[in-house]
Amino acid sequence: MGMNLTQKIISAHLVAGKMNPGEEIAIRIDQTLTQDATGTMSYLEFEAIGIDRVKTELSVSYVDHNLLQTDFKNADDHLFLQTIAMRYGIWFSKPGNGICHQVHLERFAVPGKTLIGSDSHTPTAGGCGMLAIGAGGLDVAMAMAGKPFFLRMPKVVGVYLFNRLNPWVSARDVALYLLSLLTVKGGLGKVLEYFGEGVKTLSVPERATICNLGTEMGATTSLFPSDEITQAWLIAQGREQDFIPLAGDADARYDEIIEIDLSKIEPLCACPSSPDNVKRVSEEAGKPVFQVIIGSCANSSLKDLMVVSKVMERYKTHPMVSFEINPGSLQVLENLTALSGLRSLLEGGVRIHQSGCLGCIGMGQAPPTNAISLRTFTRNFPGRSGTNPDFVYLVSPETAVASAIRGVITDPRELGDYPEISLPGRFLINDSLLIPPLPEEQARKVEIIRGPNIAPLPGFDPLPEELEGVFLLKVGDNITTDHIMPAGAQILPLRSNLPAISQYVFKNVWADFPREALSLKEKGLSVGVLGGENYGQGSSREHAALAPRYLGVRVKLARSFARIHRSNLINFGILPLTFENSQDYERLEGGDRFHIKNLKMNLSSGEKRFKIEIEGKGEIWAIGDFTERERACLLAGSLLNLAKE
Ligand code: F3S
Repeated sequence: MGMNLTQKIISAHLVAGKMNPGEEIAIRIDQTLTQDATGTMSYLEFEAIGIDRVKTELSVSYVDHNLLQTDFKNADDHLFLQTIAMRYGIWFSKPGNGICHQVHLERFAVPGKTLIGSDSHTPTAGGCGMLAIGAGGLDVAMAMAGKPFFLRMPKVVGVYLFNRLNPWVSARDVALYLLSLLTVKGGLGKVLEYFGEGVKTLSVPERATICNLGTEMGATTSLFPSDEITQAWLIAQGREQDFIPLAGDADARYDEIIEIDLSKIEPLCACPSSPDNVKRVSEEAGKPVFQVIIGSCANSSLKDLMVVSKVMERYKTHPMVSFEINPGSLQVLENLTALSGLRSLLEGGVRIHQSGCLGCIGMGQAPPTNAISLRTFTRNFPGRSGTNPDFVYLVSPETAVASAIRGVITDPRELGDYPEISLPGRFLINDSLLIPPLPEEQARKVEIIRGPNIAPLPGFDPLPEELEGVFLLKVGDNITTDHIMPAGAQILPLRSNLPAISQYVFKNVWADFPREALSLKEKGLSVGVLGGENYGQGSSREHAALAPRYLGVRVKLARSFARIHRSNLINFGILPLTFENSQDYERLEGGDRFHIKNLKMNLSSGEKRFKIEIEGKGEIWAIGDFTERERACLLAGSLLNLAKE
């Protein structure tokens, strides 16, 4: 039986374990990426490991989130990131160069290589045939130190694409269609691998959009083959030497198959406030729209913006709409300009922002109260826009521009003929904001600059023999890392300062959580949190584990966990336990006191069942299905302690 492409790339990088779904494997990592919001912590962790220079083939530090510099904090972070990149042999992408995933796709993605990134949308590079996985900052630090990346061997879902998309229907709609099938947790523990003749109808940035949004289904990653379309992309980037053809074998076996007839997909939208709340655009048509933003790592490529530009040659923005664009990268902006694409946008009443994440993570462009905002962003979790409550719809660039023109949600097919777009065979390449690594000798002499916003890493105590404390908070299903550790212009600049950022934990769920947790910690008690299904979905931010840990959280008991968040919890010594009997979730409440005994003994012996005594409610059983490495990490109190050992 032949191999699928996922198996081929994993087997070429396999360091330990067997490729049986669910079993822990370790793979060699060729490339890493970080962005500023997760990067400062990741590099503090890398420093703590004590390696002289990164050991990957290539590592890149991007600044794409904290672009606002209203005081010293973000600026301190940027300087720290730049000097640490110079010191340790890392590429540095300066503020304004673009969103990490778009820039990585353009300048660094290589078919057949492995990439991990401290950002959940790292799978974007799967559009170029790369096995690219989102991970916690500490996992990325370990990979930079030359250590393998551990994960459970995913199941591989073959997504068979056939026929082609109709005019006005685009890659975003394919992803939204899949989200409607799989929901935000249907991809857990799986790789979505695309194949079939429909693949040939999609360009690399379109494939990248689909891979990017696989993250919203909880998938480990998504992957396209490397073919003549990939080759054309690499030629356009002046990187033809990076091309190799790659595909699954003709008789490849998949754990599941999903068939998608591209010609049957219609313009779709994700309604407030979850990426899987998918409806046809025509069902929502006519609702007034006050803001439209095109951008984010999912839909800000040159083709996306050229379509919008061509449409705007014929129309103007509706007077009641703020129509805004964040180009994905400097390269996109420059090529858009060279193709005269910028002119119709400016004349059509579009606000052009700098290349970066910005509004996607609440860094500006918050919508008005009770107003509908249409965005080509990745997620519309409640409050992520910066306004709470918000009414954010996720749509394609085509639906976005049609709605910006009409002032109401509009099916783009109503605009008539689809514009003719022709993109150059070679893009203008501008790497002026991309700083290559210094040679080793020079790098050793670099002084790392740490402004007052760069706080040292705190220590992490090993796990005690017993945990006694209070489940301070009970939350429901699909709690996101945004709920646990919100983003936004006020909070993001505190990413390298745990005492400060921990004051925002669960801010929009229960504002008193940090105070109550610290008061338990001061009394020597542990803090627990109760969760439903898919706890910790969404972004890869390890601060959603680190900051609670700082507040004294040592156990999270949920019905199930999202992959990256579960790893982050383990990396920082918080026990992620699941209910043995799911009904017990109903019996427990925030405020219940718990007592877990024999923890070290159970973890050391590989015991999977943990008895939890609940004051006044008897005992319940929880499952902690940990690998040997995870157990060692939990016992040590953090992966960092383990790495130092
Ligand atoms: Fe940035 Fe939004 Fe993507 S914050 S990395 S554009 S999900």
